[in-house]
Amino acid sequence: MAQTKTAIVTGAARGIGAEVAKRLAADGFGVAVLDLDEAATAVTVDAIVDAGGTAIGIGANVADEESVAEAVERIATEFGAPTVLVNNAGITRDNLLFKMSVTDWDAVLGVHLRGAFLMTRATQKHMVEAKYGRIVNLSSTSALGNRGQANYSAAKAGMQGFTKTLAIELGRYGITANAIAPGFIETEMTAATAERVGASFEDFKAIAAAAIPVGRVGQPADIAHTASFLVSEGAGFVSGQVIYVAGGPKD
Ligand SMILES: NC(=O)c1ccc[n+]([C@@H]2O[C@H](COP(=O)([O-])OP(=O)(O)OC[C@H]3O[C@@H](n4cnc5c(N)ncnc54)[C@H](O)[C@@H]3O)[C@@H](O)[C@H]2O)c1
Repeated sequence: MAQTKTAIVTGAARGIGAEVAKRLAADGFGVAVLDLDEAATAVTVDAIVDAGGTAIGIGANVADEESVAEAVERIATEFGAPTVLVNNAGITRDNLLFKMSVTDWDAVLGVHLRGAFLMTRATQKHMVEAKYGRIVNLSSTSALGNRGQANYSAAKAGMQGFTKTLAIELGRYGITANAIAPGFIETEMTAATAERVGASFEDFKAIAAAAIPVGRVGQPADIAHTASFLVSEGAGFVSGQVIYVAGGPKD
């Protein structure tokens, strides 16, 4: 029987990360479900185990060097050396530039960019040892610019440059790195945005859907499906790419 491969999905307690974790488990990976609070990962872990898969819940802050080092070490020793990493953890702290605090700038850059850097640096040694790896980073259509999101758009554009550099540096070890740039996906993140702008989530989604060529907003499963492809063995010649999963063309 083929040995189970280990995947880490960050920010996997809910939303897109939870769906990606469940999909990768269904694809046959043992999945480390990583999020800030270990207890919060139980919903995703239980869903995977109930469906016959293998998962472990890990509490860690991706923006903290020590926390990341401990988490990846624990995953490698207790669960299996990771050869797949999905950098999905994220936050928003939206505001117009003139009202944006340094704290909110640093928080967003910290989770997305520093977090992806720390997680990837800690995980790549296992991939290099295995001479095989798949890295998927969550960017966003906001990388192309979005009002009220100077911090988030800078982070998500940064994820694209980071991804391309990983592809160049790590390719020789059989490791690919790609980014998924989702458009509007129905999660608690977009629900919170609707609340912040004073709209009902239903109205907010309807307005977004009207501007999307396929006529609907995205679901976490749309992203999970793309991640499943990018981490598959057969996708080994696809690297350094940014795939917009947004119901229409973006760049
Ligand atoms: N929802 C969308 O429309 C959309 C669009 C484009 C990109 N994205 C990106 O997709 C990813 C997932 O988004 P979502 O909508 O599922 O968000 P979400 O808010 O529902 O989930 C994000 C998860 O990340 C976790 N997290 C936050 N900070 C963390 C940290 N420091 N360490 C570990 N975990 C942390 C949260 O606890 C949460 O479980 C994010 O990177 C987001 O920027 C989302």
